[in-house]
Amino acid sequence: MKTQAEADPSGSSQAQSTEQVSESVAPAPVVTAEEAQTAARSGAEVYRAACFACHETGVARAPRLGNNEDWSYRVNYGMDTMYRSALKGRAGMPAKGGHPELSDDEVRSAVDYMVGQLK
Ligand code: HEC
Repeated sequence: MKTQAEADPSGSSQAQSTEQVSESVAPAPVVTAEEAQTAARSGAEVYRAACFACHETGVARAPRLGNNEDWSYRVNYGMDTMYRSALKGRAGMPAKGGHPELSDDEVRSAVDYMVGQLK
């Protein structure tokens, strides 16, 4: 949006002060419940923060990100099994990848993200 001051390079101080006033009375942005939910960390963000350390390179035989061979038989177990493994822990993986501060939904979205990287 062009402000009046920009449209008129001579820039009357009148136009500027009007602009300032209208900005100061602009309503504060309202965050709806829906927006607050999408503000929860995305699967990709959770992955980078909590899962990357093992799943990027396959530490302790962790299935590697985007590696179909590592994942194929696990994917066959179904998403529910994989969610449960990620939430409760399994073999070399602690519950929630060792990040109890993550919500269950964040962990599930990280699993979705990881599975989504397979081709
Ligand atoms: C300390 C290393 C480590 C971290 C951190 C880690 N994982 Fe794992 N993960 C593993 C290992 C090792 C396995 C393979 C376990 C096995 O032998 O089945 C695994 C397996 C999995 C599986 C497959 C489970 C199955 O049922 O086959 C999923 C899904 C998974 N991890 C998700 C996650 C998510 C999501 C995170 C981050 C919140 C995470 N992991 C963090 C080590 C880790």
